[in-house]
Amino acid sequence: MATTAALKIDDKDYPLPVIVGTENEKAIDVRNLRAQTGFITLDDGYGNTGACTSDITFIDGDAGILRYRGYPIEQLAEQSGFVETAYLIINGHLPTPTERRKFGDLLREHSPVHSAMGHLFEGFPIGSHPMAILSALLNSLGCYYPHLATNKVQEDLANFDEAAAVAISKVRTIAAMSYRKSRGLPYIYPKRNLPYCENFLHMMFSQPYEDYVPTPEVTQALNLFLLLHADHEQNCSTSTVRMVASSGANLFASVAAGVCALWGPLHGGANQAVIEMLESIHAEGDDGSKFIESARAGKNGHRLMGFGHRVYKNYDPRAKIIKASFEKALASLHIKDDPLLAIARRLEEVALKDDYFLSRKLYPNVDFYSGLIMRALGIPQNMFTVMFAIGRMPGWIAHWKEVASNPKNKINRPRQIYVGPTVRNYVPIAQRG
Ligand code: ACO
Repeated sequence: MATTAALKIDDKDYPLPVIVGTENEKAIDVRNLRAQTGFITLDDGYGNTGACTSDITFIDGDAGILRYRGYPIEQLAEQSGFVETAYLIINGHLPTPTERRKFGDLLREHSPVHSAMGHLFEGFPIGSHPMAILSALLNSLGCYYPHLATNKVQEDLANFDEAAAVAISKVRTIAAMSYRKSRGLPYIYPKRNLPYCENFLHMMFSQPYEDYVPTPEVTQALNLFLLLHADHEQNCSTSTVRMVASSGANLFASVAAGVCALWGPLHGGANQAVIEMLESIHAEGDDGSKFIESARAGKNGHRLMGFGHRVYKNYDPRAKIIKASFEKALASLHIKDDPLLAIARRLEEVALKDDYFLSRKLYPNVDFYSGLIMRALGIPQNMFTVMFAIGRMPGWIAHWKEVASNPKNKINRPRQIYVGPTVRNYVPIAQRG
């Protein structure tokens, strides 16, 4: 394969180095382009731009492949769990039994929030969006753990294991507390003896007078949901985390920014959009047939939410896994006659045989069933993106570490092509018409 690419500008040739990743992904290295030629590249939306090299996650969208640190998502979903996978993503290797125990102990130790933090929740009005609370409180962790958030990269890295455990453990407690706050319910504190997912469900749904005890299938569905969202390379929120980290900002500030980026409907909000679509189909008395007809009209019709993906042009591997676990959770909850589920199944069945969808490589993505799973678990729609944030935390942390520990890290500072007015003279206000 060529090791250089040639760029010709005004009859002058500029050789540009070619970079090849371990999975044969190819890039043209333009790091010296501006210095050599005076030109920059323009790629709004970054669809053709590699912002970094990374050894965390590999995706082949055409083949429907997703691997964390080299391990296929299918194997991790089958044999691992969210906490072990979080360790893998952050540290680059599967933990030994001792490492796993130590990590679990750290998460347990950090599951309660500081009592003063409870007062922060009181400052938010009832009905506040849990994503706003989550972002604010994650950032405030730096105030409660100043030794983990010095904004001096080497010092923050020296205490990284503790900071990572604080973020992973507390995101779950803060999320549950923000839900209880939004409902005006009393807070339920974490229990030391409960594993990660059970503890979250306990803090969400137990009452002071009665513990909520989930079925194993429900816990497994939540575990899988979090595992499947744990990283997805350079998406909008992860790129935001990396951007903030590149300035030397601490882990908590960086992941709080990630939460803000995830909040938008084009990123973390798609699973909620699937439920809204199913509800509106149901409200119109349609079984999905009319909606599919409209979706076939392309840009002039409806979008089939939960179908299609910018990267996957094949079945999203996460969608298959989540669907299977969903069916088991539904059976354990004795949910048989959910009309939205019936519509979702029909939409999927029809779309997977329909030439419009097949010819455009539109397959179900992870969001097609993840919203239905959360709905079945009793999680309200405004918490869906929060659930995504809990799952994505290990990925954000791993990317923060990758940036912070890179000796060649430079502050991220893209350029632009200015298209505004050229120079003009200031006009005093009295002379303006
Ligand atoms: N329903 C109907 N038609 C669709 C859909 C859909 N869900 N998605 C794409 N198309 C059509 C487009 O109209 C276009 O048709 P045309 O070629 O006739 O003009 C063609 O497929 C290509 O569509 P693009 O928008 O160019 O594809 P892109 O890769 O940019 O979009 C996206 C990907 C945004 C995910 C899109 O498929 C979509 O909007 N899906 C629904 C929303 C969704 O499920 N988002 C979640 C993504 S997963 C995640 O973020 C975790």
